Amino acid sequence: MFAQDLVPLDLGGAKLFKGMLGAAAQSELVEQVREVVARAPLFHPQTASGKQMSVRMTSSGRLGWVSDRRGYRYEPRHPEGTDWPPIPPLALDVWQALSGVPRDPDSCLVNFYAEGAKMGMHQDRDEGDFSWPVISISLGDDALFRIGGVERKGPTQSHWLTSGDVLVLGGPARLAYHGVDRIRYGSSALLKSSGRLNLTLRAVDQ
Ligand code: SIN
Ligand code: MN
Repeated sequence: MFAQDLVPLDLGGAKLFKGMLGAAAQSELVEQVREVVARAPLFHPQTASGKQMSVRMTSSGRLGWVSDRRGYRYEPRHPEGTDWPPIPPLALDVWQALSGVPRDPDSCLVNFYAEGAKMGMHQDRDEGDFSWPVISISLGDDALFRIGGVERKGPTQSHWLTSGDVLVLGGPARLAYHGVDRIRYGSSALLKSSGRLNLTLRAVDQ
């Protein structure tokens, strides 16, 4: 279903599998994400300080990542009270191909970037075991992704992520700071009304 044996680009220790998902796989995964969003609608998370994040998000799997006035955490239910839907099967296939761990992820976060949305530099550190990687799949519009090291201050590098790219934050890059500075709104025809989807797969529990 997707390109095997790709040689990844090295982004400061993170591995970028450019174009791992071809056109057919991307369309199928978008359909699977639509099913998730139909059951667990996208919502605008707030930070603990009450600021609204510019991305909208939802989740699938046993646990979903949420942020509100009580802070960041994983929750077993959507803010509206329903269980999270199952992780899209194609996303699970990507995890099984690249994670190197003999277990499935607990969570697949779905971020949607509409025009002007971005994500500040942060570490993914709400999980119980940092030896498990974080795997992120890009669909739709291009995103200017920035990655640094494990310290907040320090050099960063920027890279355009395009639809079908898969990034693995693992090993020494598992706790690398990263964020999305901007998207090129309308650069891809994959989604019916533009924008970017990012799926993030994580094993969560201790
Ligand atoms: C994230 O770090 O949660 C999202 C990264 C991305 O959108 O590429
Ligand atoms: Mn992240």
